[in-house]
Amino acid sequence: MTDTEVKLENCRKAVEDRIPFRPRVAIVLGSGLGDFVEEIDQKAVIEYRDIPGFPVSTVAGHEGRFVFGYAGETPLVIMQGRVHLYEGYSPEEVVLPVRLMRQMGADILVLTNAAGGLREEYRPGDLMLITDQISTFVPSPLRGANPASLGTRFPDMSAAYDEELSMLIRESAAECGFTLREGVYLQNPGPQYETPAEVRMFRELGGCAVGMSTAVETIAAVHCGFRVCGISCITNAAAGLSHKKLSHEEVAAAADEAAPQFRKLLLEAVRKM
Ligand code: HPA
Repeated sequence: MTDTEVKLENCRKAVEDRIPFRPRVAIVLGSGLGDFVEEIDQKAVIEYRDIPGFPVSTVAGHEGRFVFGYAGETPLVIMQGRVHLYEGYSPEEVVLPVRLMRQMGADILVLTNAAGGLREEYRPGDLMLITDQISTFVPSPLRGANPASLGTRFPDMSAAYDEELSMLIRESAAECGFTLREGVYLQNPGPQYETPAEVRMFRELGGCAVGMSTAVETIAAVHCGFRVCGISCITNAAAGLSHKKLSHEEVAAAADEAAPQFRKLLLEAVRKM
């Protein structure tokens, strides 16, 4: 067994007796969006720190637990808090939780994040359906040995974000009566925010939103057989597109403000999954 397989197996063993049911949908909640767990009928909680070898966030305001529960009839496992490459975790460590949720039985993954808007028309508080991604600026979580138990050596990324799940999110936004943006998410390693020159480059490359998570998780999720969809909460105009200085506080405050809409959209969409 490879290191990755051993770590994953240890985590699986640590949680297997504490999982109340087989989840169908897995959700990763991004910065400031963790309150979504209040929307669901909660059945069990597992703290990350109680799972040996599980990566634990070092960022203020990031919780660290799995929450199990139901949205309507849909059995869910939710990650309230994730880790990022900029914390020093390797790409393999960053995606371990995604692989673990697949082993718990989930086959749909909903990834969410806070992101900077790269398009001029985006406003703080906008929600963006992720239709595709650019991960070229971050290392792949699939580097190194590829045990067949995890997935194929060369996964196809031509339809990484599932069209059927994306339609459910579009329909749910229409039902909730608000506009949903759509676009390409670009992952930058961080933790520093971008320079205006980087933002100009990312715009040229076709990025619509930039953030410090998600794309590596999508790669691992496609690799291990999840159907994936994603929503970005636009918390700010990316550097150089507005005169405002960027700060984590501003990003967190904007995520808080958008949270009610985000919660409503996610709940509606997940109930249909
Ligand atoms: N850049 C990168 N990550 C982010 C941003 C940003 O502007 N806003 C929220 N997360």
